[in-house]
Amino acid sequence: MAVSQRIRDYLAGASWIRKMFEEGAKLKAQYGVDRVCDFSLGNPDVPPPPSVKQALEELIREDAPSLHGYMPNAGFPFVREAMAIKVSKEQKTAVPMEHIVMTCGAAGALNVIFKALLEPGDEVIYPAPFFVEYKFYVENHQGIPKPVPSREDFSLDLGAIEAAIGPRTKAILINSPHNPTGQLYGDNELRELAQLLEKKSQEMGRPLYLISDEPYRNLVFDGLETPAIFPLYPHSIVVSSFSKELSLPGERIGFLALHPEAEGKEELMAAFVLANRILGFVNAPALAQRLAAKCAEEVVEVSIYERRRDLFCEILREAGLEFVKPKGAFYIFPKTPIDDVEFCRLLQEELILAVPGRGFGGPGHIRLAFCVDESYIERSREGFKRAVEKAKKL
Ligand SMILES: Cc1ncc(COP(=O)(O)O)c(C=O)c1O
Repeated sequence: MAVSQRIRDYLAGASWIRKMFEEGAKLKAQYGVDRVCDFSLGNPDVPPPPSVKQALEELIREDAPSLHGYMPNAGFPFVREAMAIKVSKEQKTAVPMEHIVMTCGAAGALNVIFKALLEPGDEVIYPAPFFVEYKFYVENHQGIPKPVPSREDFSLDLGAIEAAIGPRTKAILINSPHNPTGQLYGDNELRELAQLLEKKSQEMGRPLYLISDEPYRNLVFDGLETPAIFPLYPHSIVVSSFSKELSLPGERIGFLALHPEAEGKEELMAAFVLANRILGFVNAPALAQRLAAKCAEEVVEVSIYERRRDLFCEILREAGLEFVKPKGAFYIFPKTPIDDVEFCRLLQEELILAVPGRGFGGPGHIRLAFCVDESYIERSREGFKRAVEKAKKL
């Protein structure tokens, strides 16, 4: 066999997801792309702010020395400085530029962190439902993924987290605002999580690291703010990117920031920088780093996502589906009246593409991504109603 057993298992496990995508592609070929309401992809469609294009044009014209060259593996010092200023504000904690590593997106940052932290067999706990790629990122570095249930409203189940912590636990990974549910963890639950981790770290005589994956930090609705992690817990690492906030997912630009007081901070930072190099990322893309520095404080037009969220909530409510109203990101995760894969099939008959929740560790739900024009959401109104009616008759 040419391909490793692990990758063959991954390919086999993903086959039904692929099948759903293939069926969606068939529908588009048959009925025309415009007639299919495709809510399956988390690829932001809201354009980057106009300042991004302007900054890019300026950068090309600047003709700076080493515009496209290698730089230190952690990133250009002036870019790390700009990120340190951004993170210090967001985290309400002074973070020095030495605690920043520029990475190939949040995905790159997570891989760098796991490469640096994990011994084979070390466990990483994260709440379900979850971002599908977490499992792969943990296993890439011989770690063991340990998903734990969330509460009904997708808030943190601290009892489940506590029960899952054991001698091999190395880190807890959280994501807020959350993919796939749009949930935003509140100050109080984060404070309680921090207290739990503090207690457990003391019991174990070593720190449990808290990794906060925040690529949607500034995509929040209803005037809400994403709480800061750093003031709550010293052994924490923030991961973020410009994939969603600036709609630049293909440019692969993100960063990690280590708490200024984290235990083992010098060694950890050296390990992250080395991991960025030896994983083959070498460094985050040079041009995108410069762009991130220029546009660090910018965000896409969040009100567009908020309007779509409101419209989706109205349509799903009208169809009789139960859901938790998203507070951020661009996903909604309604409950399904029947098995989630079956319900996706019924939706397909209505030319609506959704992803079964079981793929995210949340069976009995579907994920709908609202990275599509509002007109598609509006057009799905009757289809949702009919699918629910059909489901009732089964
Ligand atoms: C929760 C979460 N984490 C990380 C990522 C990876 O983002 P990036 O493009 O910055 O690597 C995504 C992308 O969808 C995501 O939803």
